[in-house]
Amino acid sequence: MRNFNEFTITDAVLDRLDGAKTARIREISAALVRHLHAFVREIEPTFEEWESGIDFLTRTGHLCDDKRQEFILLSDALGVSMLVDAINHRASDETTETTVLGPFFVQHAPEYALGADISSDVEGEPLLISGSVSDGHGKPLPGATVDIWHSDSDGYYDAQRPEAIDDLAMRGRFHADQSGRFWCWSIKPAAYPIPHDGPVGQMLDAQGRHPWRPAHVHFLITAPGYEKLVTHIFAADDRYLDSDVVFGVKDSLVREFRQSPAGKAMDGRELARPYFTLEHDFRLRQIRSETKRELSRKLAEL
Ligand code: BEZ
Ligand code: FE
Repeated sequence: MRNFNEFTITDAVLDRLDGAKTARIREISAALVRHLHAFVREIEPTFEEWESGIDFLTRTGHLCDDKRQEFILLSDALGVSMLVDAINHRASDETTETTVLGPFFVQHAPEYALGADISSDVEGEPLLISGSVSDGHGKPLPGATVDIWHSDSDGYYDAQRPEAIDDLAMRGRFHADQSGRFWCWSIKPAAYPIPHDGPVGQMLDAQGRHPWRPAHVHFLITAPGYEKLVTHIFAADDRYLDSDVVFGVKDSLVREFRQSPAGKAMDGRELARPYFTLEHDFRLRQIRSETKRELSRKLAEL
């Protein structure tokens, strides 16, 4: 087959996929070809535009290493990460809603005893973070692992702080107590722009968009037999709640960071100055043996 033109080339590429190694590879490759060709037909790029698209993707790849992942940032800023998240969390029940993981999660954050201060002496307004972990019916999950991380009061994560060496700060791992409760001290985080000194930043600028995320605290919570919960709690008074650059805000994840006067806090700690509290009860979804989508995929592979 040869002599393809504007009208025949899509089917020609699709026909070449017949030998794909699995039905899923064929399905994904065919969708990619159909949508990519439709995109090109819709925008009818000039050669200069096509070259600048290739250059954009090349620069995005060059900015990826073990410290920075510009492709994930691109996926975040185009709403793709939240779309994948939504597709994979379709069931609506009483469990906590999810949002993006983001690039600042660290696999092996320091483990702390409940009540510890994870700020590592970074300056800021004290914040008592507390909550509980239970299943979808409210049954406590003692021993659940709770990873917490957030930015400082200037909007920097530990790795981004100007004076950062390799010190981890404002992050820690806890284990819920016998009633499924956890708590720790840190400092109040601020809103921050996602890294915008690369191609994604240039794209946002060209699209007339700002790079800001509303102030939030990240949580990654696990317990045996339950789906991993990746979520944040956002500050209710933040100006960016309705324009989060990565489309991650959900009403159920917005909480007031309440101010309390100096004095004895709920865990008995004496505070010489006013402090904030953030409390939220998290509910984990039980792992089902096989989702409908996984089953239909397996059937298609047969
Ligand atoms: C974050 O919340 O840490 C984050 C999420 C997506 C992109 C950049 C940062
Ligand atoms: Fe964040």
